[in-house]
Parts: sequence; structure tokens; C-alpha cells
Amino acid sequence: MAGRYKSPLRWSDVTPRETYLNRRSFMAAAGAAAAVGGIGGPLQAQEALEPNTFEEITSYNNFYEFGTGKDDPKRYAGQLTTDPWAIEVDGLVERPGTYDIADVIAGKTIEERIYRFRCVEAWSMVIPWNGFELADFLEQVGVQPSAKYVAFETLVRPEEMPGVRFPVLEWPYREGLRLDEAMHPLTMMATGLYGEDMPNQNGAPIRLVVPWKYGFKSIKSIVRMTLTEDEPPTSWNMSQPREYGFYSNVNPTVDHPRWSQATERRIGGGLFAGREPTLMFNGYEEEVAGLYTGMDLTEFF
Ligand code: MTE
Repeated sequence: MAGRYKSPLRWSDVTPRETYLNRRSFMAAAGAAAAVGGIGGPLQAQEALEPNTFEEITSYNNFYEFGTGKDDPKRYAGQLTTDPWAIEVDGLVERPGTYDIADVIAGKTIEERIYRFRCVEAWSMVIPWNGFELADFLEQVGVQPSAKYVAFETLVRPEEMPGVRFPVLEWPYREGLRLDEAMHPLTMMATGLYGEDMPNQNGAPIRLVVPWKYGFKSIKSIVRMTLTEDEPPTSWNMSQPREYGFYSNVNPTVDHPRWSQATERRIGGGLFAGREPTLMFNGYEEEVAGLYTGMDLTEFF
């Protein structure tokens, strides 16, 4: 396994939390840059990496436990009680049990990672997460040699989650990874963004982030992890197996049955608003392609 992952996106690429991208000052800066270097390459490259604002990241969400509208999570997730919180760890582990989240976090080095985020619905953002590598937590609980997959579940609490009254999915929301994907240094347990505790609508207090897969694999508000020998059932695959595979690696050459995955719409848009080409493995091909050597990515989509 390669060493710890170093993001090519840096804090200097992030729009400060309080400073909305002010179109006028950005255009002034763009004008200055154009005057110096000529409009073209560098300016467009900078635009391509422009991260989303805190406001964008926290007001356009998918969290169906709170409703299926993009603004439902922001409207309703505030009522979710996230403290105390624990993760139940069971299955093929050396140290099964109930892990209090505050204790887990206290024992980890919290890092900042700026990742691309690509939803299967063909929109995308760039998000500055805080958290730790899932591998660190798996080491803590001790994975048994026979384990091949990790299954995750989200909390179901109808009193606080208005969306679970509707059978849009079979609750709880479930996701899963192959063990080598889970152990990959890019795979994070995220506890915050923009240096703040995770906003409820983004999956407080702890969620998965797997940047080379479609966003639905990045399950929110996790309460259970189970190490298994067999591939675990996952919510979207259970609901529409033809549309959502277990792997769900971002792949511009494999279209969703109802739309193309070749391009994406960057939320926020900016000066060069329009669709951008989607990158293989969401831009993390160099890091993760080796996990899938010899696999037909059309069959295992
Ligand atoms: N996790 C749970 N528990 N419930 C959900 O509805 N939606 C998924 C994923 N994790 C979802 C979830 C989908 S479809 C996406 S695109 C991302 O969360 C959205 O994450 P964001 O709102 O932080 O951008």
C-alpha cells in the first residue's frame, strides 16, 4: 500500500468559509491575472479547482432520511441529536463492541483533505473535509483475516428523521466496501468540513468519504459497521440493481441507464459555468486503478 495520501488541492485553493466568492473581486483578480499572464491556461486551471463555498456544501444535499428535496436536509437535519453517538462494530473483528465516537476521535489525528465529490446524478463539488483514514479505525477494532468486506449502516430515528416515513429506500441506509477499498489511504471517516464539526445535513457526527466513487457510497451518520466475508447488500443496489452497482466507481465511459456520466455540472458554476468532463475514478485513477486490475468495469459497475 502506498503511503499516506497527500491531496494536490491545498488550503490556498479553498474559498474561505466567510468569504463568499465575490464575483466582482474574482473578476478583478481574473482581469489582473489576464493582464499578467494572458487569459487562458492558468486561469482556467485555477477555475477548475475552485472549491465550493460552505454555503453550497451545506445547502444542496442528499440525505433521504430527511426528505428527497435538495434543501430538505438543511431544513430538517438540525433536529437530529448527534451527541452522544456510538458506532456498533461487529462481525469478523477482534474487538467487537460499542465505540463511543468522542473516544474514537480523541485517539486519531484529524487531517484536512480537499477532495472532489461526484454525485451519480452528475453534479459535483470540491469539499475540504476533516477526518481520519478508515484504515486507522479498522486497525483499532482489529480485522480478522477472513473478513473481505465492510458494511455500514446509518441511524434510523423516525422521531427526528421525517423522511424515513416514506419507503423511498429500505431503511436503514446501507453501504459497503471491499476491504482493500476500505483500507485505501484515500478512504476517510469524515468528522467535519471547513474545520468545523460536521454539519448535520452532511452526515453528523461521522460519515464515510470515498472520493473515487459516486457520492451515494459515502454513507452519512454511521451507527454500525460489520466486517463480513460476503459482499453486503447496499441500499441503492437493492432498490435499483440495474442502475446502481456495488462498486459505483466514477466512470465517464459507463453511463447510467437514464443519463450520460461523461460530464458533470459543478455546483456554484462560477465564471466558466457549464459542464465539465468527468474524470476516470473522479480524478483519482493514479491512486486507485490498481484496486481493479483485471476487473471488467462494465460488468462490475
Ligand atoms: N447517506 C445517507 N444515510 N442517506 C442518504 O440519503 N445520500 C448519498 C450520500 N450519503 C445519502 C447518504 C448521496 S446520493 C450523496 S450524493 C451524498 O451522500 C451527498 O452528500 P452531501 O449532501 O454531503 O453532499
